[in-house]
Amino acid sequence: MPQAKPFFITVEGGDGSGKSTLITNIRAEFGRRGVPHLCTREPGGTPVAEEIREILLKPGRSLVARAELFLYEAARAEHVDGVIRPALAKGVNVLCDRFTHSSVAYQGAGRGLPRQLVEMANWAATGGFKDDSSGFKSGSGLGLEPDAVIWLRLSPEVARRRLRGRGAENRLDAEASSFHERVFSAFEEMARASDRFIVLDASQDEKTVFSELLAHPLWRNMFGSGK
Ligand code: TYD
Repeated sequence: MPQAKPFFITVEGGDGSGKSTLITNIRAEFGRRGVPHLCTREPGGTPVAEEIREILLKPGRSLVARAELFLYEAARAEHVDGVIRPALAKGVNVLCDRFTHSSVAYQGAGRGLPRQLVEMANWAATGGFKDDSSGFKSGSGLGLEPDAVIWLRLSPEVARRRLRGRGAENRLDAEASSFHERVFSAFEEMARASDRFIVLDASQDEKTVFSELLAHPLWRNMFGSGK
């Protein structure tokens, strides 16, 4: 049965959580089932947003927290209007590697910017004011919100151990562990407060994580059982 509407799905999770593998598995599943989809990522997804990504992720660079927030949001505004909304308007499901919840966790909880500022910036970047002429209200949500947020839940200690075990250079070591604890707790809190989160235990092997996604009620509501 064709879908009544396309879905916007975001995937959140840090280094070592198996995010890329999960995305690859989802793409393969969509491909196998002929589900129209587009995979994209933040920061990035358009030429300008990819340039902003380079500024943000240049190793050794440190930015004032507000500047960092506004760069992520500038990239997001380009991405939402240039890629995500047009795809959804054509009936294509969009799978996005990171989105607004990353800003709440990293720039809000991680860098210590006020939650309301980050939510307002998310709201503005995703074009909230186009949908809601009453303007921003604290906690009133975002302009474009994902239908589902897949969070690969992995504690920073386990992630760090995993990455060290692989001998991989990793950014978890570059940032203070308290930063990653705050990011992790912010995701915990957002997941608890929302009925759109699909929380997957990323300490399991990748096959199990993927089967848990396919069996999750929220996923099945969107894409059926896949049989
Ligand atoms: P990336 O190389 O894509 O790594 P990851 O596999 O961790 O997603 O880097 C994206 C980085 O950007 C990641 O450290 C999280 C960060 N980020 C923010 O701090 N705020 C945001 O709003 C977004 C989208 C990403």
